[in-house]
Amino acid sequence: MIALGSDHGGYALKQEVIKHLEERGLEYKDYGTYSEASCDYPVYGRAVATAVAGGECERGIVICGTGIGISIAANKVPGVRAALCGDCFSAEMTRLHNDANVLAMGARVLGAGLALKIVDTFLDTPFSGDERHVRRINQIED
Ligand code: RB5
Repeated sequence: MIALGSDHGGYALKQEVIKHLEERGLEYKDYGTYSEASCDYPVYGRAVATAVAGGECERGIVICGTGIGISIAANKVPGVRAALCGDCFSAEMTRLHNDANVLAMGARVLGAGLALKIVDTFLDTPFSGDERHVRRINQIED
């Protein structure tokens, strides 16, 4: 199950992500927001992060205008490693090295085509499991 969340700035791109996940047959839960009415990104970053940290969802995707505010909010929840990605290389590396469990994107930064490729890369790349990366991730949690 993939947790989704956005503010008003990320709402339209989130709809594209939803369509894409449905085409791929992947299950998701949308934690809001549900319209383009102005709202506060910390609410949705926290909701997605809590769902991932609590084990209700395996991964999360959060979107705001830049992706910055909502990623900062998501990273406040212990156990969440939210990675703001604007390219596929970063999305791949953050899965391989950081075992990132939340992807953050900026809807005012990325076109939908690139954003969906980033989503696919993030969802399809496993954590490497290498000892040095496990050690470093554990140091983040300490
Ligand atoms: C909302 O206008 C905008 O500030 C928000 O979407 C995001 O970019 C914050 O980091």
